[in-house]
Amino acid sequence: MKQQRRDFLKAAALGVPALSLGSIACAKKTPPPQKSAPPAGGSQPAAAAALPEPPPPPASQPSHWDAVAYNLQRGANGAIPESYMKKIQAADGIQKHLGKHLPYRPQTISAAVPAGFLPVMWGDPAKGFAMHPNAGKSEKNPEGHWYNWIKVAIDGKPDTEIVTKFDNWPQTSSAVNGKLVDAEGKEITAERSKQTVYLAELPKGLSGEVRLRVWAHCLTHGEYLDFLTVTV
Ligand SMILES: [Fe+2]
Repeated sequence: MKQQRRDFLKAAALGVPALSLGSIACAKKTPPPQKSAPPAGGSQPAAAAALPEPPPPPASQPSHWDAVAYNLQRGANGAIPESYMKKIQAADGIQKHLGKHLPYRPQTISAAVPAGFLPVMWGDPAKGFAMHPNAGKSEKNPEGHWYNWIKVAIDGKPDTEIVTKFDNWPQTSSAVNGKLVDAEGKEITAERSKQTVYLAELPKGLSGEVRLRVWAHCLTHGEYLDFLTVTV
């Protein structure tokens, strides 16, 4: 509860639309909008279609940016499935669940990164976050567990946004622009799933140090957003 109160105060400091602590803790009583197609043969609950989309992300990084507070607030507003919000709000939920979905650029990567692409991983261990695992499609989870899109824009210039799509894990098809590599240049396997590096297209014409808005969607756990400074 102390963690929730701290995060609520952070959200308030950000100036994002206020929710009561109780409303964050309980989230919504109805499921959030589904972000991807339901499994074959499945049907989408009628109530989900009536729910509003989460608010659009800020074009520019707000002052006093706090990625955890921002994503906690936006998650409660529909960007993160309600069932997962409960895990995020539990003890250690920020480190084990929310932080696990925040993007970061790995310090070192031995795999080849094509020019014009940004290597992205999720859950920076340097910040105490759990690393995000990935999984292919299975009977238990027909969609699989990976990020199916990443949108990268220059901070303050949303028109520069480039969308990179991923249609499978551990390998994408030639139908999409997203590519996956292993952080150490090894084969991507279930055991090494946390070493998967997503290669996202950068806005055109970048050089030197730049601040980017990185907005992405995990098929299983919803949308997350952060601002990163990178040198390209
Ligand atoms: Fe996830």
